[in-house]
Amino acid sequence: MKLSAKLLALIGMFLCAPAFSQQKAAKPIPRLEKRGQVTQLIVDGQPYLVLGGELHNSNTSSLEYLKPIMAKVAAMHFNTVLGAVNWDLLEPEEGKFDFSLVDGLIKQSRDNKLKLVILWFGSWKNGMSHYVPDWVKKDQARFPRVKMGNGKSTETLNVFSPENLKADAKAFSALMKHIKAIDSKERTVIMIQVENEVGIHGDNRDRSDVANANFSKQVPAELITGLQKHQAELQPEFKQAWEKAGSKTAGTWEDVFGKNAFGDEVFMAWHYAKYVNAITAAGKAEYNVPMYVNAWISPVYPRGGPVAYMHDVWRVAAPKIDIFTPDIYQPDFKGIIPLFHHSWNPLFIPECAADSAGASNAYYAIGMHNAIGYSPFAIEDRVADPINGPIPKAYKVLGGLAPIILDAQAKGTITAVTINKSNPVQTINMGGYNIELRTRRKKMGTERYLPNSSYGIIINSAPDEFIISGVNLEAIFAPSTAGPQIAGIASLWEGVYDNGKWKPGRRLNGDNIMQNYNMTEQSTKNQTGTVVRFENPGPGILKVKLYKFD
Ligand code: DGJ
Repeated sequence: MKLSAKLLALIGMFLCAPAFSQQKAAKPIPRLEKRGQVTQLIVDGQPYLVLGGELHNSNTSSLEYLKPIMAKVAAMHFNTVLGAVNWDLLEPEEGKFDFSLVDGLIKQSRDNKLKLVILWFGSWKNGMSHYVPDWVKKDQARFPRVKMGNGKSTETLNVFSPENLKADAKAFSALMKHIKAIDSKERTVIMIQVENEVGIHGDNRDRSDVANANFSKQVPAELITGLQKHQAELQPEFKQAWEKAGSKTAGTWEDVFGKNAFGDEVFMAWHYAKYVNAITAAGKAEYNVPMYVNAWISPVYPRGGPVAYMHDVWRVAAPKIDIFTPDIYQPDFKGIIPLFHHSWNPLFIPECAADSAGASNAYYAIGMHNAIGYSPFAIEDRVADPINGPIPKAYKVLGGLAPIILDAQAKGTITAVTINKSNPVQTINMGGYNIELRTRRKKMGTERYLPNSSYGIIINSAPDEFIISGVNLEAIFAPSTAGPQIAGIASLWEGVYDNGKWKPGRRLNGDNIMQNYNMTEQSTKNQTGTVVRFENPGPGILKVKLYKFD
């Protein structure tokens, strides 16, 4: 009798088990959250660093073609892919949606343990309208186009048409509703890019009749009030151009912003931003995950897009958009990112070159500008060496270190350096130390080895303790506070982080830290003759504990 009660209980547990596991709680929805001074992306309830890569434009249109690509991407230590969903394939017939490619893209991401950022190629992709369905392409009366100054029509959808907006918003909300239905438990989709590099090509503004009619209207009070509200934070270039036009607060676009390229661009930026905001709002009403827009930023860029000096206009017109992001293909990466990382805009880089500078730029964006993510473009084609390429190697190291990085971003205890011939020595102050960083010597006493660059992030992980991850760096520490003026190495380890857990490798000592035995010279300089140095090509991780003496 006793035994059969036990048996019954066991049978009961067994029968209940599947129901129980099905009830496993859904993961929390991805969101942006302010932690300390920085905004971070929260995925599955935890801060998340996007170590991403964007798939080349057409590769998500065939699941068969995509399959080996996704496996390759996962093997390259990416944790996230950015991939397009195309309006024409989603809604081939008006009102009839085909979600098979979306389902396949999400499934392949899950199968490869990748998170997914979906790019909505709707009304515009690179300013053009090539991804709209053919029932939109063919009906130019219902879906009007941009006209150039020569009176000729283009393939580009007009931003002033409510019908264009309505059709795009309907498709995008259907997409977001579907993602909610299939992904609310797994949360594979973590962000959405709305449209792609919007703006007018070949002129400063649309010259269609409807555009001209709008252009002669008064500037909306909503824009002026919004700009005035954010007066103290206006982007310097925007502020200057508005001042040059006389800082007027009422009148037509030409009256207020000038009869010039700037006036035209503000006009287009306002209307693009309003349109994209409405699309975003429609999508968020279905499923409210973070959504961003991306900007084409080379000198000849489509006018009206979210380039840095139009951020103030976009901010007022498009409050539903969470981040304005740059696509960076120019060499001046470090000059561009501060323009997109400012008091109210966190840094996310959805597209950039996947060359050898890519890894150093990833380190810099994450360490110096608290980037929430980084994503080279066309990774399946452009990351030449999937094992030893700079991006896969860097992502492997950064992936393990990510929890420590995210924590340090929130605490403000992380920075980054890049060293090159024009900038051979950098001294930073952190955690009570001046840290002199330079390219490592090949061997003790030999000429400096100057590869293309040496770079790294430096984290002050505890009092007198630093984690440095980088390539070809060496560092000399000196106390910067009152008290003992010499810093010695208490211990130095190389190692790796695995999901935020330190796994020490060699304890570095002896020849591995020594660089100068002239103790008279060294002690006069308050130095010890030792150095913290990366020895292997890297990127690697060093953890150093220091002590101070006189
Ligand atoms: C930026 C665009 O956003 C991408 O889709 C792609 O067209 C690249 N430029 C160029 O390859």
